[in-house]
Amino acid sequence: MPLTRKAYRAAILHSIADPAEVGIEASYEYFEDGLLVVDNGQISALGHASELLASLPANIEISHYQDALITPGFIDTHIHLPQTGMVGAYGEQLLDWLNTYTFPCESQFADRAHAEEVAEIFIKELLRNGTTTALVFGSVHPQSVNAFFEAAEKLDLRMIAGKVMMDRNAPDYLTDTAESSYLESKALIERWHGKGRLHYAVTPRFAPTSTPEQLTLAGQLLGEYPDLYMQTHISENLQEVEWVKELFPERKGYLDVYDHYQLLGERSVFAHGVHLCDDECARLAQTGSAVAFCPTSNLFLGSGLFNLPMAEKHKLNVGLGTDVGGGTSFSLLQTLNEAYKVMQLQGARLSPFKSLYLATLGGARALRLEERIGTLQPGTDADFLVLDYNATPLLSYRLKQSKSIAETLFVLMTLGDDRTVAQTYAAGNLVHQR
Ligand code: GUN
Ligand code: ZN
Repeated sequence: MPLTRKAYRAAILHSIADPAEVGIEASYEYFEDGLLVVDNGQISALGHASELLASLPANIEISHYQDALITPGFIDTHIHLPQTGMVGAYGEQLLDWLNTYTFPCESQFADRAHAEEVAEIFIKELLRNGTTTALVFGSVHPQSVNAFFEAAEKLDLRMIAGKVMMDRNAPDYLTDTAESSYLESKALIERWHGKGRLHYAVTPRFAPTSTPEQLTLAGQLLGEYPDLYMQTHISENLQEVEWVKELFPERKGYLDVYDHYQLLGERSVFAHGVHLCDDECARLAQTGSAVAFCPTSNLFLGSGLFNLPMAEKHKLNVGLGTDVGGGTSFSLLQTLNEAYKVMQLQGARLSPFKSLYLATLGGARALRLEERIGTLQPGTDADFLVLDYNATPLLSYRLKQSKSIAETLFVLMTLGDDRTVAQTYAAGNLVHQR
């Protein structure tokens, strides 16, 4: 195959470490006039344009951007494909919201054509917002995952998804059985896990909608294949936490239910964790599990404020999640805007470099994919964004006043959204252009 080589010249910024571990200054690299070189879908060089240009052949194709910032693609560690059509549903908190809006909307995925239509819309929306990797809940129907992976495969995206397992406490039209969920998940794993850049996640919805038999089989699946993911929800809402205590009185608490069924581990991602206690954070960290922080959802559903400093104290892996449709935006920039406010309400700070980390390298680490995505290090996949400083008149005017990359980054995260993403590249291919 002939070598395809291209270079991209602009201001370039990426996270290289967690600011909580190394301090802010050592957590990122910034090239005011940078160059990113891509060979066959992978990054082959990153540095100052003045230094790198001399080493490149004179005829190399270079895209040169003014008033723009290249960053790694964003990573959404928690989102629901079948809730695309119900973002912004009025008036309820979690359990009523599920019954009133979510389950009826997800039931439409029984229709294969509907699943395909929404999968196309969903993936376009991810890419328009600069999200190049997501950990995705399907519906209970296997065709939701087939439709999603078929659409993702066409664009050679790095994506993770799974069919929801739920065999109780949901309407009959939306439940599987312990056995059927095991068999259907297994068939999807055989078809998709490890194909190209796709990975499978075993997906029990949350403890209240699975019987002990189903949770046992979810744990069994994880043991049967290497590198499978596990995704579920935990401690999002106080009524939910109480309900889990009633359903599993023999367990110490919510996390202990998942622990008992062997669902914790290095590729396990628990959404929300708003009401986790100290011991639960310690146990999650000890097992290498991760939490998806979903601020727009936690505010919209009135769930509570995620305690990021507590997670940091335990060195718990944290990624960022939009949680669409409980969350109100596909944009991780808008998600960071709300994350900042969630910290403010707790008397804490969220530096723009920690925010960048959460949306990129932190998400990659939560998913154990930091060798492939989340940074612009040579040798990793060329999944990156071109962010436009002139995306809106206000952004343009505001950024002209900026005195540092820290200020520019913070304003991008406060005022930015899908309009800010001028181009999205995945595996070196242009997959979205505004
Ligand atoms: N808990 C169980 N299911 C869901 C869901 O679909 N969304 C959210 N936010 N929480 C859940
Ligand atoms: Zn969710």
